[in-house]
Amino acid sequence: MNINRITDRVTYCGVNDRTKSLFENLWELPYGVSYNSYFVQGTNATAIIDASDSGHAAGFIDHIAELLPDSAPDYLIINHIEPDHSGAIPMLKSKYPNIKIVGNAKTMDMLKGFYGIEDNLMTVADGDTIDLGDCHLRFIFTPMVHWPETMMTYFEEERILFSGDAFGCFGALNGAVVDKQMDTEIYFSEAYRYYACIVAKYGQFVGKAFDKIAPLPMDYICSTHGPVWHEQKPKIIEQYIKMSNWEAEKGVVIAYGSMYGNTTVIAERLASKLADAGIKSIRLHDVSYTPQSRILADIMRFKGLILISPTYNAEIFPPVESLLTAILERGIKNRAIGVAGSYTWGSQAIRKIASRLEGKPVTLLQPTPQLKQALHMSTNDDIELLAANMKSELEN
Ligand code: FEO
Repeated sequence: MNINRITDRVTYCGVNDRTKSLFENLWELPYGVSYNSYFVQGTNATAIIDASDSGHAAGFIDHIAELLPDSAPDYLIINHIEPDHSGAIPMLKSKYPNIKIVGNAKTMDMLKGFYGIEDNLMTVADGDTIDLGDCHLRFIFTPMVHWPETMMTYFEEERILFSGDAFGCFGALNGAVVDKQMDTEIYFSEAYRYYACIVAKYGQFVGKAFDKIAPLPMDYICSTHGPVWHEQKPKIIEQYIKMSNWEAEKGVVIAYGSMYGNTTVIAERLASKLADAGIKSIRLHDVSYTPQSRILADIMRFKGLILISPTYNAEIFPPVESLLTAILERGIKNRAIGVAGSYTWGSQAIRKIASRLEGKPVTLLQPTPQLKQALHMSTNDDIELLAANMKSELEN
């Protein structure tokens, strides 16, 4: 048995990265990441679909050489040219100089810009097909998922969608490739983190792409990151559709900054009141400690959000400000948001957070509990009322 064999004509030839600490030099990788690529064997020709990053080029090319010990692949199809999938292309081309590189016009422009490659190219249009003999690969343009050149490749005879980053997740593969041969638990939670960090800003384009691929019969989804989806395909599709629409589960994320612990008291009391009210999914994050990717993933998942910030230099506490910027960049919507804070001599944080959220497609809750220096009874009353209002909003 070859664990990398997906079907008789498709074999996994990607690589795992367990040493990169930050994806895009931003997002932590506690379980690593895989750069997936796939080898398609036709009766007349062969194709590689997507490559790997430059740091793993040698391993990626070794996998191809094992599959084709006496010949060269005919095509490299680039569904997505972000360097985590294209950094290996110069080395691949130097080993296989006659390989034909297939992509759309935007891909070719970036291929030239990133790597200076301009020869042996095949520029395709939306809906074009290449014929490998008994295999037909059709190209489906899905722009802005999450780069402008992104497309998918559909293997018609095998009903396989090579989906680029869509349906992807963080987490290196641990032996097996296809979901039915592994424990997939971490990959679904890592899909929240991956989507929230990398793709969320482009949710409307993800939705358009899903409308376009919805009529296709699909036995497998082969993404560029994480497991090949087969048995659990409906679950990852449902999760991705929910994320792209900002649909949410009942639960509350409390993201707070605190310099001396006073603001922490608001967060803890809010959590306690929400739990008293029967809300089971509550996630408290001290924004100075929890990696932002984990907070964003929880915000992507749950309906309620409470942002709590001290006033710092007459502004929002910087890590809270960074989180607020991140969620606004991603076009947050369909969330119930509470705001709370603290100050010592001049209150600014609450007002500034609320003003940045005004006009956004979210529900801003009242009141806005605030403490001056330390917790007093009036703040306690506001905490109780905000928790009650959050509970009502979650039940709407
Ligand atoms: Fe996995 Fe957008 O690159």
